[in-house]
Amino acid sequence: MPHLEISDLITATDPRTGARLPVRRAEVVHRLREAGDRHAARIVARLPADRHDVLDPHAVDRLMIGVHTELQRLSEELRLGKRLVHILGPVFEAVRATATGRLRLVDVGSGLGYAVRWLAAHHSLGPDVELVGVDLDAALVGEAARLARAEGLDCRFVHGNAFDLPEAATVYVSTGVLHHFRGPDLAGFFRAQAASPALAFCHFDIAATRLAPIGAWVFHRSRMRHPLGRHDGVASARRAHTDETLLQAAAAPGMRPLLYEPRGLANPFCTTLRPVIGIRPELEAPLRRAMGRSARRLVGPEHLAGAAR
Ligand SMILES: C[S@@+](CC[C@H](N)C(=O)[O-])C[C@H]1O[C@@H](n2cnc3c(N)ncnc32)[C@H](O)[C@@H]1O
Repeated sequence: MPHLEISDLITATDPRTGARLPVRRAEVVHRLREAGDRHAARIVARLPADRHDVLDPHAVDRLMIGVHTELQRLSEELRLGKRLVHILGPVFEAVRATATGRLRLVDVGSGLGYAVRWLAAHHSLGPDVELVGVDLDAALVGEAARLARAEGLDCRFVHGNAFDLPEAATVYVSTGVLHHFRGPDLAGFFRAQAASPALAFCHFDIAATRLAPIGAWVFHRSRMRHPLGRHDGVASARRAHTDETLLQAAAAPGMRPLLYEPRGLANPFCTTLRPVIGIRPELEAPLRRAMGRSARRLVGPEHLAGAAR
């Protein structure tokens, strides 16, 4: 049975225009029941809808903002900002070897913009790096922009689709987004970025360890209040892609795929979110130099082939 996340089903966007589409509650409930997830179906059946059974878009927006606000706690607990800088600092150091002028980081699926806002608040990557977040959910984009304004941060947020990105980047990043993309979409996501002028991508997602669903259950049960957030938190850990899937998908033409802390090289009690990286081949050596000893934890597809022998 496929693991579905409620948040993927209760909002729908026209991929061509970006316009919001109506979502019928009964259809979502049906899909979740078909997938064998009666608990998720009950959560959706309780959401408000109009007399045509279309989910109330304002209630859905409030719910999504609420759940993402709680999700920020997870980023804080995982010290996501520091993890980002640990990799992105050296990535930008390597990139500066060839790029000149202003550089741009684009966070794809930025949600409430925790990553971008953290980087802006800590001036982590240098004044030459413009910080932009892109998300398919207009309500989250609006709230991310409002928070950034209130916090006086130098970053911006744009409504857009990961598969038709409105912003060119020097480096694309994401946090907690890859597991939403399944089948050919996953490779398509990396391929589009490799085909763009970007010099690198760096996408953080849940490591598919056996402990991940248990850890996610404990965290979401104890720290999150809304049943949707608790449900989707565990579903995302169950949907995490394996090391093999990530390295295969990230092997887009013109990019060297690398995984940081693959299974076997990492302590499963500490590994939660870690990145799959794509970097222009000529920048791999400068990246490894900039990372110092940590570069030992950076492996390409040949490592997995070696591990399988
Ligand atoms: C689990 S949330 C992660 C949010 C944020 N990166 C964080 O770490 O808090 C996944 C995000 O991906 C966004 N998303 C899903 N599909 C997308 C797409 N095709 N294009 C852009 N954003 C997308 C969702 O709207 C949601 O905000």
